[in-house]
Amino acid sequence: MKAAVLYEANKPLVIEDVSINKPGPREVLIRTAVAGLCHSDLHFMEGLYPYPLPAILGHESSGVVEQVGSDVTYVKPGDHVVTCLSVFCGTCDMCTTGRPVLCTGTDVKLMPGVANRFSWGRKEKLNQFLNLSSFAEQMLVHENAIVKIRKDMPLDLAALIGCGVITGYGAVVNTAGVRPGETVAVIGCGGVGMAAINGAAIAGAGRIIAVDTNPAKLQLATKLGATDLVNPKEGDPVAKVKEITGGGVQYSFEVLGAKITAEQAFGMLAPGGTATVVGMIPVGTKVELHGADFLREKRMQGSSMGSNHFRQDMPRLVEFYLNGKLHLDDWVSAKIKLEEINEGFANMKAGKVVRSVIQFN
Ligand SMILES: NC(=O)c1ccc[n+]([C@@H]2O[C@H](COP(=O)([O-])OP(=O)(O)OC[C@H]3O[C@@H](n4cnc5c(N)ncnc54)[C@H](O)[C@@H]3O)[C@@H](O)[C@H]2O)c1
Ligand SMILES: [Zn+2]
Ligand SMILES: [Zn+2]
Repeated sequence: MKAAVLYEANKPLVIEDVSINKPGPREVLIRTAVAGLCHSDLHFMEGLYPYPLPAILGHESSGVVEQVGSDVTYVKPGDHVVTCLSVFCGTCDMCTTGRPVLCTGTDVKLMPGVANRFSWGRKEKLNQFLNLSSFAEQMLVHENAIVKIRKDMPLDLAALIGCGVITGYGAVVNTAGVRPGETVAVIGCGGVGMAAINGAAIAGAGRIIAVDTNPAKLQLATKLGATDLVNPKEGDPVAKVKEITGGGVQYSFEVLGAKITAEQAFGMLAPGGTATVVGMIPVGTKVELHGADFLREKRMQGSSMGSNHFRQDMPRLVEFYLNGKLHLDDWVSAKIKLEEINEGFANMKAGKVVRSVIQFN
């Protein structure tokens, strides 16, 4: 099968011909339908987060089950599935206390460098990325890394749910728990930020302030539910958000992955407000906050993959799309071939797209 391999940080991905193993007892072989390009892949490509290389990247995907291992009962060949990197073991302390995103069961959620699912006629090991490796014609994953979806859900849009949508929506609904009428600001309106905005609208938030340097993204944010738009190129976004809300928002979301925007997210809170950092701030980067703000009961927290329970959340997101509440049609900017993947990431870096998706045959 064809797959996009990262050999070294800051080098283009290379399309290689590789073999994928047959499913072990609890594994599922999937024919990849669609894989989205997420900024997290780019962070790893730029070496801002370490990973054992060479590796087949990609972690936002949909597909059709081709073959299942001897102990798999959850899916059968022909089922449509969405993948999720939040693989859960179901028995560790995190899983059994309701936080499967933080699963520590390393027999199921394999640590980087452990999975042995590919061969390619070379001595060097080819690594699986985040238990998935979606930039490939087939994926071999643990059965707890997938969720079945309705067959009338278009597979290209379903792929987006696998990372960007669950992450943005989940940060608002699961991690922060935004309630009707509350005020929200989202800094960074790419694929993940758009999902946070749409999620805030679904949650019934009052003011939803979109903050982005790209006017085209702000325009789209309006369609998804943003009530106010702030472009940091036109002035300090913290001052602007405070002006719009008369003192700050109850919930802010950093969806970009930078020190300055994380500090802005905290700075734009009303007393008692909570800032949620979704973006992947480079390893080694520190965020500075004013200590005195904690006396105003302001909080800052992280969110991984939208604190999901993906077997429940993702089918609900499919329903939201099918009944017109989740506007996924608006955020696929380009459908590309696997061979065009480097151009796809260049366009992401240039801020030109909300989401590019690779369509496999
Ligand atoms: N926590 C998680 O589990 C998780 C999961 C997926 C993605 N992420 C992270 O979320 C972040 C966003 O991912 P994405 O795929 O949506 O990225 P993206 O590149 O599509 O979007 C980033 C957006 O930020 C905007 N922007 C750039 N500079 C800005 C500034 N100074 N102020 C405001 N906006 C600015 C860009 O115009 C763009 O719209 C990344 O850091 C990614 O790694 C985290
Ligand atoms: Zn992602
Ligand atoms: Zn677990």
